[in-house]
Amino acid sequence: MPYFLLIAMSHHEQVEHLKELARQLSCPDGEQGIRTGENMNINNAYMTSLTIDSLDLKGDQKVLEIGPGNASHVHYLFEKYPDVSYTGVDISDTMITEARRLIHADQAQFQLIDGETLPFPAASFDAIYTVNTIYFWKEPLAYTQEIARCLKPGGKFFLAFAVKEFMEHLPFTKYGFELYTLESASELLQEAGFQIIHTDQQTEEILSNAGHPVVRTFVLSIAQK
Ligand SMILES: C[S@@+](CC[C@H](N)C(=O)[O-])C[C@H]1O[C@@H](n2cnc3c(N)ncnc32)[C@H](O)[C@@H]1O
Repeated sequence: MPYFLLIAMSHHEQVEHLKELARQLSCPDGEQGIRTGENMNINNAYMTSLTIDSLDLKGDQKVLEIGPGNASHVHYLFEKYPDVSYTGVDISDTMITEARRLIHADQAQFQLIDGETLPFPAASFDAIYTVNTIYFWKEPLAYTQEIARCLKPGGKFFLAFAVKEFMEHLPFTKYGFELYTLESASELLQEAGFQIIHTDQQTEEILSNAGHPVVRTFVLSIAQK
């Protein structure tokens, strides 16, 4: 929504609008969720492509993405790594349906999950990545341990998120977001048994979900099991 429409609302309407925006970002739903998925994919394109570039997958390795939204970036993943097997898991039925509509590759599959456990045997994947989902994890340590369990020994986890110092100024993040600094995310990874092998902090200009341009600082952490 354009910023001028937001400031024309009453306080109560603004709060309801921001809560709904936060709800849609955490689990896109229905027609509005489809539009949210499209906007997220555009707004987060640089974070996502940087993460995909860093994966450095070889041959027919197996990669898991947690929370791909509508997954339209998976076309780019297959351009870079044509022979890998990709699995995308998301808690949003709407996003899983959209992802299946948009991505038709034989070696891609999408699964609806509960957001607390990963329905895969131990040591299933060479790499796991996630972009802009950590804010919504209900049990962060248990979920990070789940991620470690699903990685093969020596496998890597790629965690991309916008930092607390930026996110806390956005008007909707007070409704159900858990925010992380570089340090608190690193502690979480280490507590779950990961060794951090690389951390990259960058800034980029984007259009915020509330509709105005902002400079976002984000982190990509690469951790090894
Ligand atoms: C803000 S969107 C980010 C989508 C995409 N990764 C991007 O950066 O554009 C968050 C996505 O993660 C999903 N999600 C939220 N919590 C999750 C969880 N615990 N496990 C898996 N997916 C989750 C949501 O349904 C949504 O599709």
